[in-house]
Amino acid sequence: MRRAALLALLFTNCCAFAQSAPTMAIANVSHRTTISLDGTWNSIVDPYETGLGSRIFINRRPATKSELVEYDFDRSPKLRVPGDWNTQRDSLLFYEGPVWYQRNFSYHKREHIRTFLYFGAANYQARVWLNGKKLGEHVGGFTPFDFEITDQIVEGDNSVVVEVDNTRHIDGVPALKTDWWNYGGLTRSVELIEVPESFIQNYLLQPAKDRADEISGWVLLDTSGLRQVTVEIPELQVKQSAQTDASGRASFQFSAHSELWTPENPRLYRVVVSAGNDSVTDEIGFRTIEARGTQILLNGKPIFLRGISMHEEAPFRSGRAFSEEDDRTLLTWAKEVGCNYVRFAHYPYNETMLRLADKMGLLVWEEIPVYWDIQWQNPATLENAKSQLREIISRDQNRAAIAIWSMSNETPISSDRTEFLKMLAAYARQLDSTRLIASALNHWDRNGDVRTLSDPFGEALDVLGINEYMGWYESKVEDADSTRWEFAYEKPVVFSEFGAGAQYNLHGGADTRFTEEYQANLYEHQLAMLQKIPQLAGMSPWVLMDFRSPRRLLPGIQDYFNRKGLISDQGQKKQAFYVLQKFYRERAQGGTIPK
Ligand code: GCU
Repeated sequence: MRRAALLALLFTNCCAFAQSAPTMAIANVSHRTTISLDGTWNSIVDPYETGLGSRIFINRRPATKSELVEYDFDRSPKLRVPGDWNTQRDSLLFYEGPVWYQRNFSYHKREHIRTFLYFGAANYQARVWLNGKKLGEHVGGFTPFDFEITDQIVEGDNSVVVEVDNTRHIDGVPALKTDWWNYGGLTRSVELIEVPESFIQNYLLQPAKDRADEISGWVLLDTSGLRQVTVEIPELQVKQSAQTDASGRASFQFSAHSELWTPENPRLYRVVVSAGNDSVTDEIGFRTIEARGTQILLNGKPIFLRGISMHEEAPFRSGRAFSEEDDRTLLTWAKEVGCNYVRFAHYPYNETMLRLADKMGLLVWEEIPVYWDIQWQNPATLENAKSQLREIISRDQNRAAIAIWSMSNETPISSDRTEFLKMLAAYARQLDSTRLIASALNHWDRNGDVRTLSDPFGEALDVLGINEYMGWYESKVEDADSTRWEFAYEKPVVFSEFGAGAQYNLHGGADTRFTEEYQANLYEHQLAMLQKIPQLAGMSPWVLMDFRSPRRLLPGIQDYFNRKGLISDQGQKKQAFYVLQKFYRERAQGGTIPK
């Protein structure tokens, strides 16, 4: 209870909708003492959720041959964890509904050690039991959660049961419609975390928006009362101590003359946070990011975001990406096309991907799945969105790579919607004042060749993201040549999406849909149009790689894949890849785009 109350203190208005929602997950798990529960799990596909009534979570065995027990995990099919279930079994490709996961594990209890059961993510809703006792629930498919199990876990054999349900809900985040596959399951790692009785729950150590030589932040212990906390950055000869307040939080402000993190020089520092018996190490880069007028400044200097949008889709095998290998392949392709920035559409990605972006030198736009139309008037939907925002900021707030938190994508303008999004943006600023707040907008007024963006939500943003599909969903490719963009706000503009579909190796005239030539030609015209926009501070064309989507039905071309990738799902580069690569190369060499 203490931990929940403490975090409620830190993050007001939380957790209204799930009666036994887990508390904020322990941060920086990869540098803690952990025991992996990844591997092969028993699984029971339960379309009618029969298991809830039959209390499948107690994992009962018939005591006698006449006792009726209508399930048996050990004799049930297996699923790998981490991983979505859709790409592990053909029969589950389109499956949406409850699946029960179960595995046994052996554990040795130790004195003065607390144990937590941690999930990197479970899409979409999860209920968790240990040894038949319910630990709690979690809603949201892309953020971590954990439960303390110090009192429930036993010496020797333990059984964990997780019901994961990826059913879409009209009041959900996202809601009923997405242009990505609704991969279900324990899509990221499951681990036991062992910490001392009093431990470091989380911390934020970043320069304030415009103070590169000063690091400020806080360290939160899970236990209240006054305690000494120390932050060390050996390479910078920094060793600072502070006392926690009654809520277990210690604040820090100290000068540090670090080599600032940039995409060209992604310098990370080893940072050690210690308190009592607990000590956590991290690799953190220090940089400032701000918007000034129509420019984005990195470490006080204007930067142009040479980006690409992507999905967390595994290359070659498809399915939800989760491994370092998946992540490195995708980010290496982004680097290869000449990017210094990536847009992680439309939901939070696995933590390894963020840490890789830190190391590889890629700025990141991270987004929560407030996607298209959702229930704007529904308070539970707002709490759901806020909870996902809180969970992702809490996990990733120390990643130098993350420049932008995005609140939403392509949401229809209404006063309820704008109010909802403005509350989210205000909440994001409350949680993290060191980064830029943006959204991908797609509504503008048209007057002949002039398109004017005046979305009321733009007022609350630091950066205006624009999704437009001239030459694909509307207008002709060539209309871009005469199109002029205007904006109601004197703010940096990032074209967060534009693009066209192309089947790899399908060739024909530039006016033939789905040919590589059509896509490449559209890029030529789009890039020429964008160069003329004085307020342009960056772009992230749609999309790095073809990805699975339930909305793409064209046989022989789409086959349930969105084909707007510059690279096919099998890693084959299309002509447009080289068009963008050439453009970014020129840009990186200080080409024509005004700065
Ligand atoms: C939209 C949307 C994407 C979608 C893309 C498309 O703008 O944001 O999620 O995949 O367009 O239609 O290909």
